[in-house]
Amino acid sequence: MTQYDESTVTQAVLDSLSRCTDPRLRTVMTSLITHLHAFVREVDLTQDEWAAAMQFLMDTGKSSTAQRNEFILLSDTLGVSMLTVSLAQARKSAALKGATEATEATVEGPFYWPGAPDVELGANVGALLPGEPALYCGRVTDIEGRPLAGAVLDVWSGDGEGRYDVQVSDPPQMRGRGRMRADDEGRYYFWSIKPSAYPIPDDATTGVMLRRLGRKNWRPGHLHVMVNADGHVPLTTHLFVSDSEHLDSDAVFAVRDSLVVDFERHPPGKALDGRVMSTPYHVAHFDFRLAPARETVAA
Ligand code: BEZ
Ligand code: FE
Repeated sequence: MTQYDESTVTQAVLDSLSRCTDPRLRTVMTSLITHLHAFVREVDLTQDEWAAAMQFLMDTGKSSTAQRNEFILLSDTLGVSMLTVSLAQARKSAALKGATEATEATVEGPFYWPGAPDVELGANVGALLPGEPALYCGRVTDIEGRPLAGAVLDVWSGDGEGRYDVQVSDPPQMRGRGRMRADDEGRYYFWSIKPSAYPIPDDATTGVMLRRLGRKNWRPGHLHVMVNADGHVPLTTHLFVSDSEHLDSDAVFAVRDSLVVDFERHPPGKALDGRVMSTPYHVAHFDFRLAPARETVAA
């Protein structure tokens, strides 16, 4: 009869993977078990602590709904989401010629809602949102600077007070979201509000964890953007407001210097796109560069 104890159990579990026919799954599980067992040994984990961890995960599942995935929030605040995004970009850069020239990606976050309304260029996707108006404009190009005509931009943000539509009404109604196509020269422009910093939800297990760790739950102001163009690697990213609070302490570790954008303040008057503004407004300019989907580095 095989006996298991603290010196034999790890190898026994690893041996139990020998019939797994999926090589990637086997690699991942071998590493997970190795690191998990090493962690338990390193901190000399007690049974009570492990039971508390399992209860925490059970509560995380219970507080998740179709509109709210608490596991994403947990992954985001532990930096794992940003790590997988960064690794994906590094992998792509190694495989694709010039991919380092592409706009950097960052986390998607839990508030993407597929099916945002299609809007014309110049539309105001932030109508009805409290906050200072902002004109967003720029171009979508490939990494050589050639326009990507018809590229699709899917944008979403919280309001100027830091709340998302899914958080303010029940059932939620879409606000601050829109999908548009760049013109023949790859240009895009639309109006919304200048997003402000906001606290991520802290009413479930992630909040408990952050409080126990003495961490803050704030994110700097940002607009989310997904950009898609035929033959190019889809991009999910943010534009961060350069004078926002919490740029140096994002609760989900998603800030990248290249995504920080100045929001120039203008007095009332005629804006670049011809819209006449009766209040002060901001202009945020940003060009998106997408990597080719298939071109690989010559050997
Ligand atoms: C957000 O950007 O909306 C977000 C991202 C990660 C966690 C929570 C919120
Ligand atoms: Fe966000």
